[in-house]
Amino acid sequence: MLLSRCFPDRHSRTLAPVPRCRWPLTSVPLLLLGCGGPFPQSTLHPRSDFARAADTVFTDIFWWAVLVFVVVETALVFALVRFRHREGRGAPRPTHGHTLLEIAWTLAPAVILVFVAVPTVRTIFATAGEAPPDALKVQVTGHQWWWEYKYLDLGITTANEMHLPVGKPVQIAITSADVIHSFWVPRLGGKRDAIPGHVNYIAFRADAAGNYSGQCAEFCGASHANMGLRVLVDSDGGFAAWVKAQQGLAVAPPKGSPAEQGKAIYSRSACLGCHTIQGVSPGIIGPNLTHVGSRSTIAGGLFPNDSAHLASWIADAPALKPGAIMTRMKPPLTDADIAALVAYLASLK
Ligand code: CUA
Repeated sequence: MLLSRCFPDRHSRTLAPVPRCRWPLTSVPLLLLGCGGPFPQSTLHPRSDFARAADTVFTDIFWWAVLVFVVVETALVFALVRFRHREGRGAPRPTHGHTLLEIAWTLAPAVILVFVAVPTVRTIFATAGEAPPDALKVQVTGHQWWWEYKYLDLGITTANEMHLPVGKPVQIAITSADVIHSFWVPRLGGKRDAIPGHVNYIAFRADAAGNYSGQCAEFCGASHANMGLRVLVDSDGGFAAWVKAQQGLAVAPPKGSPAEQGKAIYSRSACLGCHTIQGVSPGIIGPNLTHVGSRSTIAGGLFPNDSAHLASWIADAPALKPGAIMTRMKPPLTDADIAALVAYLASLK
């Protein structure tokens, strides 16, 4: 539509008058948008050794490109001015068969490519996913449309929010349960495809504690854009406390509480078939919910983990996330049932 406005073809001119192209005006605020902040998913603010290595390659190549731009544009402007048309002056003499010039402009791009290739190839090898043997290992599995994390050495399974210790080497093994996804946390490192039947690795060491958001970076179906994730880099003490809490059994709700009622509803619902709650249900199709109340988001980082969003999510997940395989329950749950389920899930800290 916009394109046809800006580049009307011959036929459209014979119809109604074509509106003037407004790109130059509308694009100014759009361009300026790129100057503001914050950018939680910007590779230009690296916070790990991996992300810094990639950023350094980018910066190096950017300055080589600036140099080439300046040289080429200077030559161009010089030629435009020096050989511009003047009254009474004939066409300039063409340069032809100048061996030295031809060797020079063949060699120059080759040399520039070497300057680009050497740091690029070096960084590709340096970020190939090798980690020291004591690195924390996390197995990541992409699903339509959420992420599963298994800390095999620690006996922890969780979803969508990955906790890591600051300053420690980490190795992440990435695969997929269905279609090809891509695990990408721009400020920490990436991206790596999650391919069914194949494992890819990323290794890095996060510099600073914080909450880093990420995104599936490979089109994987209706809710590809809704397949977010979080990496929470904790202080040593914070990470140890998280591990201890996650290794614990699911909290048993107090007698007579709404959460206990919710547990009873959960235990006779279809939820069992898909979700694990340690000691309650063994499903493995959806996210493990043993400690779901300790997460800050639900649905692949899409919504805050609060009562209102949990209730809407349980009532009708595909309405919030197109294509979600957690369909509406049949028969539908009553509002009271949903409220009790929400109380139960929120209690699973
Ligand atoms: Cu998963 Cu896109």
